[in-house]
Amino acid sequence: MRTPFIAGNWKMHMDRAEAKALAQAMKTELAGVPHKLMVAPPFTALETVGAVLQGSNILLGAQNMAPATSGAHTGEISPLMLKDLGVSVVILGHSERRHSYGETDALINEKVRLALQEGLEVILCVGETLEEREANRVNQVVETQMKEGLKGVTADQLENVTIAYEPVWAIGTGKTATPDDADAVHTTVREIVADLYGAGEADKMVIQYGGSVKPDNVKGLMGRDNIDGALVGGASLKTETFVPIAQFDR
Ligand code: PGA
Repeated sequence: MRTPFIAGNWKMHMDRAEAKALAQAMKTELAGVPHKLMVAPPFTALETVGAVLQGSNILLGAQNMAPATSGAHTGEISPLMLKDLGVSVVILGHSERRHSYGETDALINEKVRLALQEGLEVILCVGETLEEREANRVNQVVETQMKEGLKGVTADQLENVTIAYEPVWAIGTGKTATPDDADAVHTTVREIVADLYGAGEADKMVIQYGGSVKPDNVKGLMGRDNIDGALVGGASLKTETFVPIAQFDR
């Protein structure tokens, strides 16, 4: 049985005071929730939020990471620096990184391998653009992103990987994939994991859905066999919306 995993991606929102207040409220309101939980504040608020979340059931996540541990990488953040702040999960390959900052599958793969080597958990995001969906290329796009992103990742390391299927057209747009549409791709994602690592590993893989997840659509999505959690953007910025999502019950 896979443990549901609800993660909040705060993106480029929240100064330290706001982040602290939000983290404190979530720590209180989410105590006792049986699902695996994580929030990923911006880098500048990691230390503040990490201090608040200590001893809670909410993991500290980061939104990106450099493909190197140290050196001449102006503007980048090393996995060692993240670990130093208490980060245990890193989101990699988010579509905003892929499409707005030109991250390639090869770069994302370097980051994935390094993060796992350094003992961080990885949420690897995959998903098609609207154009790719309309051209019937969803499965092909997701397969390439997964195969390239997971290159060199061993079966042993896979237990520290979560796949987030996030159709780009559903992110921040208010358009959610229907549970049927999402489940179809999640089934494909699991088949790809089975192809790469075998049925046993595929069965264990936690696959999140992301893209306009809200309190009123979470139950329908999570009710599907192959949807094991959510990566939440906009709705993770307020307790009124994140708490009911994180508390979902099938
Ligand atoms: P959204 O973002 O929930 O605001 O659509 C999801 C994400 O980008 O992970």
